[in-house]
Amino acid sequence: MKGSNLPIGVFDSGIGGLTVVEEIIKVLPHESLVYFGDTARLPYGTKSKDVVTKYSIQISNFLIKKRVKIIVVACNTSSSNALPELRKRFNVPIIGVIEPAVKQALKVTKSGRIGVIGTEATIKSNAYQNLLRKYSSRISVYSQACPLFVSLVEEGWINKPVTLTVAKEYLSGLKRDRIDTLILGCTHYPLIKNVISAVLGKNVVILDSAKATANEVQSLLDKTKLNSLKCNKVKYEFYVSDAPEKFIKLGRKFLKKDIRHVKKIELPF
Ligand code: DGL
Repeated sequence: MKGSNLPIGVFDSGIGGLTVVEEIIKVLPHESLVYFGDTARLPYGTKSKDVVTKYSIQISNFLIKKRVKIIVVACNTSSSNALPELRKRFNVPIIGVIEPAVKQALKVTKSGRIGVIGTEATIKSNAYQNLLRKYSSRISVYSQACPLFVSLVEEGWINKPVTLTVAKEYLSGLKRDRIDTLILGCTHYPLIKNVISAVLGKNVVILDSAKATANEVQSLLDKTKLNSLKCNKVKYEFYVSDAPEKFIKLGRKFLKKDIRHVKKIELPF
């Protein structure tokens, strides 16, 4: 096959996946994208594995109908709870955000003491912890759920003192564990990377999965020869399951670009 101008499908529970979209656009400027944010049913981070899996299947069906060539699960909670089931059910290649971040962390760590933070559902799934240990037996993994970070970011409280206070509370254990690398296992956390870094100190390398995932998408397209041709007329389409206004307003912060063409659609409940 000589490339494919079909779009890349990306989904998240809401707006957070736009941090992954931002990186995909940087490394793959000729690719078209169809994004779905499940704004009516977020947060996923507090939900059970069964529910997150059910929602992820419905969204993947929607993206397949849009004729996407691959699916990027740009949500840590979906990736850690639903990825194996999605790969069983759908024929297109599916990339999650866990594996790219894990590979990067293993390259970066010197002491082998790696921290992971995410939503309750992500940390409970043990997806990061298991994969890190699968790849290397000399790794010690320390994890912490930080559920309030999502609300603080959505409120736009990036540089407020309260965010620093909450970060100090959540991260004190990881500080004591003397990690040298921290994986931001949630789409929202890159927006408060500076606050997290201020708490942990400059010796801790902080990794977000967005960049690593975009690089993984690039190598998959290269390997499968599914890249769009350079003359492709790039189109970005955004779909949400609740009113688009909040997505458009907040989305600008995540994507660092204006968002247009956002359509609300109903998924089967
Ligand atoms: N997108 C989710 C994640 O990366 C965070 C928001 C939510 O809980 O739905 O885990």
